[in-house]
Amino acid sequence: MTKDAPQPRHVAIIMDGNGRWAQLRGRPRLFGHAAGARRVKEIVRACPALGVSYLTIFAFSTENWKRTQTEVAGLMRLFKRYIRREAQSLFEENVRVRFIGDRVRLEPALVDLMDGLELMTANNTGTNLTIALNYGGRDEVTRAARRLAHDVAMGKLDPRTISDETFPRYLDTHVLPDPDLVIRTSGEARISNFLLWQSAYAEYEFIDTLWPDFTPAVFAEVLARYSLRERRFGAVTV
Ligand code: IPE
Ligand code: IPE
Ligand code: MG
Repeated sequence: MTKDAPQPRHVAIIMDGNGRWAQLRGRPRLFGHAAGARRVKEIVRACPALGVSYLTIFAFSTENWKRTQTEVAGLMRLFKRYIRREAQSLFEENVRVRFIGDRVRLEPALVDLMDGLELMTANNTGTNLTIALNYGGRDEVTRAARRLAHDVAMGKLDPRTISDETFPRYLDTHVLPDPDLVIRTSGEARISNFLLWQSAYAEYEFIDTLWPDFTPAVFAEVLARYSLRERRFGAVTV
């Protein structure tokens, strides 16, 4: 990687493959989720040196409720434990944490922890870590449309002013730049309802590594490949 090679400012990751990682070891799926959660810390810590200012990670989708009650309950326990355990070090490492997704279906104890962590890190100025929890791209756009329609009905918004620049203000991600690079681990080449609006012009990397094996070294390799890409945004390079 050359010194001035372009680095992605915002990287979004679909952390997939925890279940298969556990299965390969003859262990229950939740064992894989716990291993996956441990990886998050190292990846967040690697961001400043790699020039990544925004990291968005997909932790639980609006479709993941279809899993067994045992797995869903185990994941919810893991999220609560993760926030309790990591809050202090995230704060000390100057990480600003935000959550995106619909909180309505999440249990109040988890929502309280999420709110607390957002508040606690609100003045941090380092890596912007966004955790997508009960997140779905279609659900997000639908909720945005609902709020926008409400503003129109209340006379607060003139429909003629709605554009592709003003609409994203209603999305959960309204304070974030669009992702430059979306990485999906585990070999699946699909988006699974992640950041549909925001990724319109993102670069994609689908890699075979299972999420619990995704080390900062693998992360650095993916970023090095990104820096060789040419992004045209519909224009022609002269
Ligand atoms: C990703 O790993 C984590 C979540 C979706 C919560 P998976 O649980 O989807 O792992 P695989 O895809 O079954 O291996
Ligand atoms: C996407 O992974 C969601 C998360 C990583 C949280 P899934 O494993 O749920 O996606 P599908 O079912 O393979 O599309
Ligand atoms: Mg999966």
